[in-house]
Amino acid sequence: MDLDDKGIATRAVHGAGAPDPATGAVVPAVSLATTFEQEAVGKPLAYEYSRSGNPTRTALETHLAVLEGASHGFAFASGLAAEDALLRTVPAGQHVLLPDDAYGGTIRLAVQVHAPAGLVVDTVDLTDLDAVAASWRPGTRMVWVETPSNPWLRIVDIEAISALAHDRGARVVVDNTFATPALQRPLDLGADVVVHSTTKYLGGHSDVVGGFAATRDDELAERIGFLQNAAGAVPGPLDCYLVHRGAKTLPLRMARHSESAAAVADLLAGHPAVRRVLYPGRPDHPGHAVAARQMSAFGGMVSMQVAAGEAAALEVCRRTEVFTLAESLGAVESLIEHPGRMTHASVTGTGNEVPADLVRLSVGIEDVDDLLADLQQALDGLA
Ligand SMILES: Cc1ncc(COP(=O)(O)O)c(C=O)c1O
Repeated sequence: MDLDDKGIATRAVHGAGAPDPATGAVVPAVSLATTFEQEAVGKPLAYEYSRSGNPTRTALETHLAVLEGASHGFAFASGLAAEDALLRTVPAGQHVLLPDDAYGGTIRLAVQVHAPAGLVVDTVDLTDLDAVAASWRPGTRMVWVETPSNPWLRIVDIEAISALAHDRGARVVVDNTFATPALQRPLDLGADVVVHSTTKYLGGHSDVVGGFAATRDDELAERIGFLQNAAGAVPGPLDCYLVHRGAKTLPLRMARHSESAAAVADLLAGHPAVRRVLYPGRPDHPGHAVAARQMSAFGGMVSMQVAAGEAAALEVCRRTEVFTLAESLGAVESLIEHPGRMTHASVTGTGNEVPADLVRLSVGIEDVDDLLADLQQALDGLA
């Protein structure tokens, strides 16, 4: 079937192509083989060794590449493994610009792993194009975008950043974990590479850790493919199968996540215990106009700053019942967490530290009335 003229929900269901020609199976087989018979010495058939390539992984890579509108897709063992491969494409001595509010693990990877190996790393507010221009160096080769960002939910204008970076000879990576290709397709907006933690919405069920990178750039794809095999941070076939299965319902889930998150953001905005709500779907969000242009809906993540400070923020996390207190995000169940002490603890004490009154919500697909009642009781209960 030609998917070029099909909508995102049809692509999500049929992205990897027709049923298996050998058996008619409508889902890919889980190929556990690590090695494959060769026709003659040095003459493998389609596959050779499962680190280099595996049929279940190919099915996932093809599927996710279709969703992102990419010509090349690469699955990794985690989101950070995918990010690591992309950072390795920039030679030592060259410069990468990261958002100052990137996921803490991304900053830790760049600053504590790649910078000691010679990569020059700066963080900057990517919503401020003058600041980006001022941070530019002769060796700037990559601009790393995360939009919406974790946990501030800042919105970066992908088209504008891509134009600026391309004028100056740098590539643009977009971490599309929060929006997913169901809501935002960075390659169509001019970015060079998309990266995901598939652990989140693409997997969607809190049962698999994975990563993915996709591009239309043949030269870059060759390098990423080389690194995928040479460094070997590949996902196993069962993990590939789970992410692939999750991706089929992605558009359906993202619509529900977005609808419920908007209702949650409205409830929080009207509650006296909340000082500030961060949700790009709200007209008072500074990135709302850009988000409305580059996203088809605003996603399932909502952050808030609790008026009475850190102790109250921790108390809200303790009081919710439908929202489970746990790290991670993007799955069917609603989660609540305190970024300063949990997901972003690795940037505590740096310029990228997040405030102690911040609480992050991953709004799941439960009945929205139950979610609203849970948050209402948790906030009402603050003395
Ligand atoms: C936006 C974002 N990018 C990347 C990652 C890293 O992904 P993983 O945990 O799969 O390595 C995360 C993890 O929380 C994330 O939130």
